[in-house]
Amino acid sequence: MTDPSSFDDLDFATRAVRAGIERTPFGEHAEPLFLTSSFVFESAAQAAARFSGDEPGFVYSRFSNPTVKAFQDRLASLEDAEACLATASGMSAILATVLGLVKQGEHIVSSTGVFGATAQLFNLFGKYGVQTSYVPLTDISAWDAAIKPETRMMYLETPSNPLTEIADLSAISEVARRHGVTLVVDNCFSTPALQRPLQQGADVVIHSATKYIDGQGRVLGGAILGSEQLINDTLLPVMRTTGPSLSAFNAWVLLKGLETLQIRMERQCASALEVARWLEEQPQVRRVHYPGLASHPQHALAKRQQSAGGAIVAFELQGDDDETARANAWRVIDGCKVLSITGNLGDVKSTITHPASTTHQRIGPAARKAAGIGEGLVRLAVGLEGASDICADLARGLSA
Ligand SMILES: Cc1ncc(COP(=O)(O)O)c(C=O)c1O
Repeated sequence: MTDPSSFDDLDFATRAVRAGIERTPFGEHAEPLFLTSSFVFESAAQAAARFSGDEPGFVYSRFSNPTVKAFQDRLASLEDAEACLATASGMSAILATVLGLVKQGEHIVSSTGVFGATAQLFNLFGKYGVQTSYVPLTDISAWDAAIKPETRMMYLETPSNPLTEIADLSAISEVARRHGVTLVVDNCFSTPALQRPLQQGADVVIHSATKYIDGQGRVLGGAILGSEQLINDTLLPVMRTTGPSLSAFNAWVLLKGLETLQIRMERQCASALEVARWLEEQPQVRRVHYPGLASHPQHALAKRQQSAGGAIVAFELQGDDDETARANAWRVIDGCKVLSITGNLGDVKSTITHPASTTHQRIGPAARKAAGIGEGLVRLAVGLEGASDICADLARGLSA
């Protein structure tokens, strides 16, 4: 089966291992890896037709490669998207989207709670005449009020990094539709295994495939998903000329990651819930942020919108002032012996991070304060180890 529409009626699990496969005449079973920078033509006339787009076919791997296409088709099928454009990283997916959608003099509205580098990228665009306003993710009237005549894009993550706040996608997409603004959702934390934002009113979905899509901390990758018109007519030309393309090798690794995405997410979410419940009982912990807990402010919304709470748990340590809170957070992190101290998330190996001094360091204290990222906050990305071992390691950290 090679026609993407022939997968529409199949289960998510089936599409995750089958969609996008186009077998070569050799009859290989696994997805072929096309490590080639360019493709040869039968004649000069054919080369001209391929370059102009009059004849379909592969030309040059900066913008067309069969392994990358297989990854794009599979992810599009899983996100219920018409089309997908793979990129070298999550950040290059966001960069290409802004370059394609927004021009000088225009405006972006973003939630305050986004990944640090995303906010820095939006701020960088200020230099080119694109301004960004930040609003609290959960305040629908603030989204509405921030829209100006020149607003072209609304941007959010749900759940957000690192506080796991949940955006009401149907309410925010209604605001976007009313103002004729494109709503872009970073679906990195949930992945299509837990939620499909395009079905809930978003126009564009962004991925850092580096995270759960790879799932084993091996390669960088990203993706943009949306209508065929947006992807092929607006964003593909940006990719073609600017070049932040996904390599064929990384696409192959990510195809393999998609095959196990659902079962990894199910298991990692179940463990995350167990760890979050355990953390709530620890006296050194002031607050746990996890959408699967009844104490999460948008727990009911999360239950409606996602099939599970995700695998990211953030927790705040006690501490009367910033200095004490940071010292407590670092002591817990340093006291863990199994969890990896690293900025990545989405790996089968659990990771532990202090957002204020790492992933969100460069946005500065004022932006951190606005986003609610305190010095006592620790972010845990729960992997596939036994949940009881993760709790035991955290207990070691908490008693350090
Ligand atoms: C929510 C989110 N979006 C985007 C990115 C950027 O992705 P990449 O590191 O693949 O460029 C990250 C990275 O941590 C992230 O957490």
